[in-house]
Amino acid sequence: MATPHIAAEPGQIAPLVLMPGDPKRAARIAAEHLEGAELVSDVRGIGCWTGTWQGTPMSVMASGMGVPSVSIYATELFRFYGVQRIVRVGTCGGMSDKVAVGDTIVATAAHTNASLSTLFVPGISLSWTASYPLLRGAMDAAATLTDATVHTGPVYCSDHFYFANPDIIGGLAKYGTLGVEMESAGLYACAAAEGGEALTVLTVSDHLFDGSQDMTSEQRETLYANSVRIAAAALLA
Ligand code: ADE
Repeated sequence: MATPHIAAEPGQIAPLVLMPGDPKRAARIAAEHLEGAELVSDVRGIGCWTGTWQGTPMSVMASGMGVPSVSIYATELFRFYGVQRIVRVGTCGGMSDKVAVGDTIVATAAHTNASLSTLFVPGISLSWTASYPLLRGAMDAAATLTDATVHTGPVYCSDHFYFANPDIIGGLAKYGTLGVEMESAGLYACAAAEGGEALTVLTVSDHLFDGSQDMTSEQRETLYANSVRIAAAALLA
């Protein structure tokens, strides 16, 4: 039984899924971190690989960019493939003076301007939050697995990459928002709707208030690998 966007057979996708945004990243994570990884779906170039991580079955599948894309894959994984846990590993723009480029943010919650906050319950703007067991697993792993500076707190999941309204960014920063990205609210909403668990682990790749901060490509790879290790440890917790 395939779904409109995933061609794997039932049982070919593990209950634990690592989800980067970029399909090429998914291919690299599968090749470099999973044992015995096999490609089980490749619809629209969104590859899904299944193998094992330290002996436990795990899949890696890309989300694509933005809430609509991640919502399609997360819904189909939770609803039709028996997936229980999805951890997004991505990048974000820093929007707090507490965070620097290269830091890691574990997103406890996702504010959003996407319509899904007000879609489900009339008159209510729902809060999209991470799974606590995954969050605890990530933070336990962060303390032992890496020397990265790890923050926990809310992020802003924006529907717009190029139209960052300074009033919105400033307002959200004032209320403790740490970074901006484009998928977490969609993932957390699908987990809530489908009875699954979700978490997002982000590397700060740029800073909205300080354009002078930048990363070398080597730093980028090392830090991303740290996030992948934290995310996988959370899935296994
Ligand atoms: N992902 C990484 N940096 C970002 C930014 N500045 N805005 C939205 N998503 C991002």
